[in-house]
Amino acid sequence: MFPLRGLTSTPLPPLHLKTSHPLPPLNAAISTAITNKFSISDEDLESRGFNLHREIADLNLDHLNKVFVAVGFPRRDPQKIRLALENTNSLLWVEYKKTQKPVAFARATGDGVFNAIIWDVVVDPSFQGIGLGKAVMERLMEELLEKGIINIALYSEPRVLGFYRPLGFVADPDGIKGMVYSRKKNSKR
Ligand SMILES: CC(C)(COP(=O)(O)OP(=O)(O)OC[C@H]1O[C@@H](n2cnc3c(N)ncnc32)[C@H](O)[C@@H]1OP(=O)(O)O)[C@@H](O)C(=O)NCCC(=O)NCCS
Repeated sequence: MFPLRGLTSTPLPPLHLKTSHPLPPLNAAISTAITNKFSISDEDLESRGFNLHREIADLNLDHLNKVFVAVGFPRRDPQKIRLALENTNSLLWVEYKKTQKPVAFARATGDGVFNAIIWDVVVDPSFQGIGLGKAVMERLMEELLEKGIINIALYSEPRVLGFYRPLGFVADPDGIKGMVYSRKKNSKR
């Protein structure tokens, strides 16, 4: 989901970072059998050099903004990002321990009871394709579902629909269309 813009339990494919960070192989089948919950367990993430966080403490917003920009999101004022994150009900980010930088992020806003919208699902391009996007989405969804929230929405770019579908998202459920009023820059209204 992107700024007005990232769920499943199938085993994780072998992790191949686009960078040359040496990571131990993950036995996804064993991992899934043990936790039977997430495609990659917290322990596996940890053993591969990643820490999972659910708070903004320790999150360097300049680094997060760099990830946003790297995936093509517009650069946003870090102060505004901080305020937005403080007003966010649920968020998750993955830190690459070696650099202590955020490499994956997702957050959800909502009423805490019925409805939530997921925003800003991003994975640093160097770390894409190794299951981190799915890892943050699975955990974010679980947190929302545990709260009893039944409507979880997001905006998906067409090229990312295939990422969200296996997580349970459908476009136009029962023919219902989402409608968005989006104020254009330079608009007087
Ligand atoms: C989209 C994004 C969050 C996916 O994160 P990721 O870590 O690269 O994805 P994962 O490695 O967790 O992939 C999980 C599964 O989704 C699939 N997948 C990932 N990106 C996909 C895409 N764009 N289209 C279709 N399937 C996709 C993977 O093949 C994998 O499938 P599998 O479980 O069957 O093996 C990441 O690529 C990204 O940040 N992209 C740029 C920003 C963006 O577009 N965000 C969403 C805005 S709407």
